[in-house]
Amino acid sequence: MKALITGASSGIGEEFANQLASQGWDLVIVARRGALLETLAEKLKDQYNISVDVLVCDLATPEAADQIITFSPQVDLLVSNAGFGYPGDFGEFDRELDQKIIQLNCVTPMSLVHHYFPQMKKAKAGSILFVSSSLGFQGVPHMAQYSATKGYLINLAESLHWEGKAEGVAVSVLCPGATDTPGKDHFDIDYSKLPIKWMSVQKVVSSALKNLGKKVIIIPGLRNHFLSCIGSGLYSRKHIQCLMKKFYHRIKQ
Ligand SMILES: NC(=O)c1ccc[n+]([C@@H]2O[C@H](COP(=O)([O-])OP(=O)(O)OC[C@H]3O[C@@H](n4cnc5c(N)ncnc54)[C@H](OP(=O)(O)O)[C@@H]3O)[C@@H](O)[C@H]2O)c1
Repeated sequence: MKALITGASSGIGEEFANQLASQGWDLVIVARRGALLETLAEKLKDQYNISVDVLVCDLATPEAADQIITFSPQVDLLVSNAGFGYPGDFGEFDRELDQKIIQLNCVTPMSLVHHYFPQMKKAKAGSILFVSSSLGFQGVPHMAQYSATKGYLINLAESLHWEGKAEGVAVSVLCPGATDTPGKDHFDIDYSKLPIKWMSVQKVVSSALKNLGKKVIIIPGLRNHFLSCIGSGLYSRKHIQCLMKKFYHRIKQ
């Protein structure tokens, strides 16, 4: 059985590679930093006696999906994990960056699924896991592009979950809250000013693999679950958005 993981050079994607390898999956791992991928591949091949193919690819380009599909035309599991977003005012950075975020977070995952999903349906087997975010459940001031693109993934996954279910294909979307990965250090943010409790990548990924196909939306951790229930129940979207705006101003000070 072969699993393809995008964004496997670091953080959540790297942990998917670790845990899937320990279950005996052969892997195709994709990201831009080839040296990190090669080191991971060597480690996993030695440790678990599996095959690991490495593809160095910038997923924020229009050619990315075709490169991946040509490299690996058939897989049993797709983990569409690579993603990026920045905190800031909308329009603060040039339009090209926002277009790249849509390419990376939406267009490339959609293009991959366009290829693998019909193939899996035909075989009446296969699984797809999108990695979205708890910030995808609503618009988030100062994370506008990120929350909008992550919302796209949630809606796409929800639709495909039901389309795939009758055909033997499992589709879920992982919506982590704050997760302790190198990704959080990309920005100059004083996290001590925020009421954040970081979850480990190990827990996030094991929850995802345990619930893949069983739940449409996977929210790892009781705390994140509780917060998302509060979000959808007691508080209105407007309240959450006001809260997020307040948090942003706190870290900007
Ligand atoms: N950490 C959190 O708190 C959190 C919470 C909710 C959701 N998420 C989501 O979880 C996913 C993984 O994030 P992470 O926290 O694990 O971050 P991370 O440690 O920074 O890892 C991001 C991964 O995505 C890859 N990537 C980014 N841009 C890429 C590009 N243009 N082309 C190819 N690969 C690219 C990176 O590889 P290269 O740099 O080598 O290309 C890296 O492997 C993302 O979709 C993120 O939105 C994270």
